[in-house]
Formats: sequence, structure tokens, C-alpha cells
Amino acid sequence: MNRLFKATVTDNKQIKKDHYLLTLHPFKKINRPEPGNFFMLSVDSSLDPLLKRPFSMHRWLGFDFQILYRVAGKGTGILSKRRPGDLLDVVGPLGNKFPVAKTHDKIILIAGGLGIAPIFSLAEKLKKNKHLLFYGAMTKEELLCIDELKSLGIEPVIATDDGTLGYKGVITDILKKFLTQNSKLKTQNYLYACGPKPMLMALSLLARKYDLKGYMALEQNMACGLGTCLGCVVNTVDGYKRVCKEGPVFRIEEIVWE
Ligand SMILES: Cc1cc2nc3c(=O)[nH]c(=O)nc-3n(C[C@H](O)[C@H](O)[C@H](O)COP(=O)(O)OP(=O)(O)OC[C@H]3O[C@@H](n4cnc5c(N)ncnc54)[C@H](O)[C@@H]3O)c2cc1C
Ligand code: FES
Repeated sequence: MNRLFKATVTDNKQIKKDHYLLTLHPFKKINRPEPGNFFMLSVDSSLDPLLKRPFSMHRWLGFDFQILYRVAGKGTGILSKRRPGDLLDVVGPLGNKFPVAKTHDKIILIAGGLGIAPIFSLAEKLKKNKHLLFYGAMTKEELLCIDELKSLGIEPVIATDDGTLGYKGVITDILKKFLTQNSKLKTQNYLYACGPKPMLMALSLLARKYDLKGYMALEQNMACGLGTCLGCVVNTVDGYKRVCKEGPVFRIEEIVWE
């Protein structure tokens, strides 16, 4: 199926300072996106900015879908001004997905900041009693989707760097305490993570220490999103791989951090 399509903005709601929830209605039926997949969006109909921007699939609504985003620069600033009825060019769904096997006994989801965008879609897909969600942000104001998680029956373990909500500290430290206290979980748990690079690096160390398996979704600046420009490569134990094509989801032990 051709993955280039036009979509109408049906909603673009500011949910927190600098954070928006965009709902798109594709002009045609698209492949069902899976947690971990992403879309390349043109933020405007003009040629400036020329390049589409990558965003994770946050929620699949059956035909429409949602993107959760933060205004980070020019492109997302323009996107935040889009109004219902505006048209966007979209390519997707792209990339691989979080592979979840039925044999994965207990699942630990870890989201840092905007990493909640794809982790939410995975949490929504999994059965509610099968996983634990650890969710960290700099401050209370940057925690998103808490009510929506609760309405799915998910009570996340929360940490904020400044202690304004949940535990004070970084989420990987809270996870480490949990793993230490529940050492028998070592062999049963699979980690699924998305968040800023320092969080993912800390998680790689934890996974090595506790011999945990799992997957993480990476973010990298992207020009094409289609595997042709090689602008998004990361170093792995098997050589360089493209985040847009072989990723964005990689095995935790696969990434060679530089
Ligand atoms: C697979 C993937 C999924 C993503 N999902 C989401 C999402 O669900 N929600 C969300 O808010 N953001 C997401 N991002 C990041 C988002 O693509 C960038 O924030 C956006 O492209 C910035 O565009 P801009 O023009 O506003 O900023 P720019 O002016 O281009 O850059 C502003 C800042 O953002 C950084 N940046 C630019 N592009 C990226 C990028 N692709 N990844 C990381 N940092 C970048 C720049 O280095 C700079 O520091 C995702 C990125 C990838 C690769
Ligand atoms: S963004 Fe062009 S190869 Fe990945």
C-alpha cells in the first residue's frame, strides 16, 4: 500500500505548556500503525520547512490517529498553529514496531518525557495487568496522559527530577530500586522503553547489570524517513543501522552508545 497520503487536521489541542495532541483524519484507509511505528508529517503546505518531521504513532482510533508532540523548534512551532480543516502531507506508518511475544511474562514499560507518546500506544495494546509502567519527566508540568492511563486501568510509577510529582529523581534510579527489591523478576521481565538518550543509556547499563532483555525506540534527526539518505544511522553491535528503516525499535543490548 502506498504510504503517502493527505490527512485533515480534526483537532490540535494544547494539553500542557508547549505540548499538543494532534488528531488526523487520513483521506484514505491506511495500514494500521503499530506501537513503535512513526509518521513523517509536513507541518505546512508551503515549502518552508522543506523536510517532513518524524512523530510516533500515539493513538490509533480505528481510522484516524493521534500524534503527541512538543514544540521543539521551527517545524513543531508551525505545526502547533494548524487548525481543524488544514491539510497535511503524511508518509507512514514507517519503521518497525515493539515486538511483544506472548511468552513475555511480565513487561516493564519505561517512558521518559515525550517517550510516553509511543509507550502509551504499547500500554494501550497490552493487557492492563500484564505490565508495569515507569514514567519520568523533568517536572509535573511535563507529565502527559496521566488521566488517560488511569482510565485504561494503568497506575504508572512516576518520578520527576524536581520532585513535584511522584518520586524525586530520575526514573531509571526508581526502576533500579524496584529491580533490586524484586530480584526474582530478573529472569521474567522484558523492558520496553522510549525517552531521551541519557535515560536509554542508563537503561542499557541496568539491563546489562540485571541481565534483562528488551527493546527501546530511538530518536534521531531524520531527513527522508525512508532509508535513503543515511542521515539517521546509529552504531550497533552489527554495524551501522538506520533508525528510520531498521528501527526505530532496537534490542537494548544492540546499541553501541557513542
Ligand atoms: C522516530 C521518531 C519519533 C518521534 N516522535 C516524536 C513524538 O511522538 N513527539 C514529539 O514531540 N517528537 C517526536 N520526535 C522528535 C521530533 O521529530 C522533533 O522534535 C522534530 O522533528 C523537531 O522539529 P522542529 O522543526 O520543531 O525542530 P528543529 O528546529 O528541527 O530542531 C529543534 C531541536 O530538536 C532536535 N530535533 C530535530 N529533529 C529531531 C528528531 N528527529 N529527533 C530528535 N530531536 C530532533 C534538534 O536537534 C534541535 O535540538 C520523534 C523523532 C523520531 C526520529
Ligand atoms: S532518515 Fe534518511 S535514511 Fe533514515
